[in-house]
Amino acid sequence: MPHQPPPSSHGNLPRRVLVVGATGTAGRATTTALIAAGHHVTCIVRPENEDPVAPGARLHFANITDTAALRDYGFAGETYDVLVSCIASRTGAPADAWAIDHDANVALLERAKASGVGHFILLSAICVQKPLLAFQHAKLAFEEKLVASGLNWTIVRPTVFFKSLSGQIARVTAGKPYLMFGDGQLTACKPISDRDLGTFIAGCIDAPDRRNRILPIGGPGPALTPLEMGREIFRLTGQPEKYRKVPVAMLDVIAGGLRLASRMKSDLGVKADLAQIGRYYATESMLVFDKNTGLYDTDATPEFGEDRLFDFYADVVAGKETVNLGAQAVF
Ligand SMILES: NC(=O)c1ccc[n+]([C@@H]2O[C@H](COP(=O)([O-])OP(=O)(O)OC[C@H]3O[C@@H](n4cnc5c(N)ncnc54)[C@H](OP(=O)(O)O)[C@@H]3O)[C@@H](O)[C@H]2O)c1
Repeated sequence: MPHQPPPSSHGNLPRRVLVVGATGTAGRATTTALIAAGHHVTCIVRPENEDPVAPGARLHFANITDTAALRDYGFAGETYDVLVSCIASRTGAPADAWAIDHDANVALLERAKASGVGHFILLSAICVQKPLLAFQHAKLAFEEKLVASGLNWTIVRPTVFFKSLSGQIARVTAGKPYLMFGDGQLTACKPISDRDLGTFIAGCIDAPDRRNRILPIGGPGPALTPLEMGREIFRLTGQPEKYRKVPVAMLDVIAGGLRLASRMKSDLGVKADLAQIGRYYATESMLVFDKNTGLYDTDATPEFGEDRLFDFYADVVAGKETVNLGAQAVF
């Protein structure tokens, strides 16, 4: 068994931090930031996972959906000051979302309470403020349990990650048109980089004003529309501007058709769910939603960090950065 991390000294640093989801985009960046801040970090990783975790982290291998394994090999009888959960369903499809975004987080919360964790930090998503999709309901249901848990908690709801807005660089580079819904100005967002998000989450540990709060967070403004992103990709790649405008109604037709067909071929139901997710992001901005006006509010969307999406695009085009889309690409 790995040795117990040293206990926290009084004052701010270092804390004993347990990270779950450290092999994901946000989790890896958060782990890096926690280590850079001087914390003692242990990550629970799936036994079969060979993805790299940030250097300097201790690894505990356990299946988090198995409560006995979580207790015996995940927490392994050790004590932590803070638990950071960056787990997420890799597809966003309903069954997986409830199993991971809700049930696995509930299991982590129960174990955190039983083992004396003082602060539970949850990576959520800004889109849960207007929940229409299964994974959003699953996240919200867990958020409510966390708030009622009696532990100190922080819920971080980021806007959009750079990777989720970079999927079209490759197709534009290959001379294909840029796809956008409507006129490309139906939505806007303030994207946040992995590094800035990781720094923000790590900073929640010792910031009293980020405790017991729900924190929407974006990157530096201004808010960008899909059309502006497309223009920048054309500028950087030197390709002539060529757009394909997709009517939103087409996504409704696709989702409806797949839903109907799934009655005969059940695996099409998952594709219908994914089409519905696509429709959501085609029409909803990733900004703070004002329930009184029914509008998204750019100014009310907090900004953090320094990294800008268009600098990231430039690095991708120059081959200095790669885009790992995973299963959660918005485009
Ligand atoms: N993409 C965006 O633009 C965006 C914007 C705002 C908020 N968010 C939210 O941010 C969160 C994290 O996103 P991300 O892109 O960092 O996710 P990601 O890269 O897909 O990582 C998901 C993490 O969860 C773990 N996980 C998933 N299923 C698991 C299972 N059955 N057992 C154990 N671990 C499991 C993965 O482990 P494995 O490596 O072992 O699979 C991985 O570490 C999500 O809640 C997402 O909704 C995303």
